[in-house]
Amino acid sequence: MYVCVCNAVTERDIAAAVCDGMTTLRQLRRDLGVTADCGRCARYAHDCLRSALAQHTDQAVATAPAFARPTLPLALEAT
Ligand code: FES
Repeated sequence: MYVCVCNAVTERDIAAAVCDGMTTLRQLRRDLGVTADCGRCARYAHDCLRSALAQHTDQAVATAPAFARPTLPLALEAT
């Protein structure tokens, strides 16, 4: 689905940008043109960015080697 109609940016484009290392709306604006024209897409673009960042983080944690995964504090670990 299109997020930014003015620049034909889709949710998939934003997810791909996050996989390439973008983490801010400013970076999306600079590289994809999101919000650069009318700006009506700003709120939805921000929501898509947050969602893509959350998914990307979850995938990174799930696929990271065991030694690189964050550990829970001892008090929260299951016994
Ligand atoms: S819809 Fe994104 S700048 Fe117009």
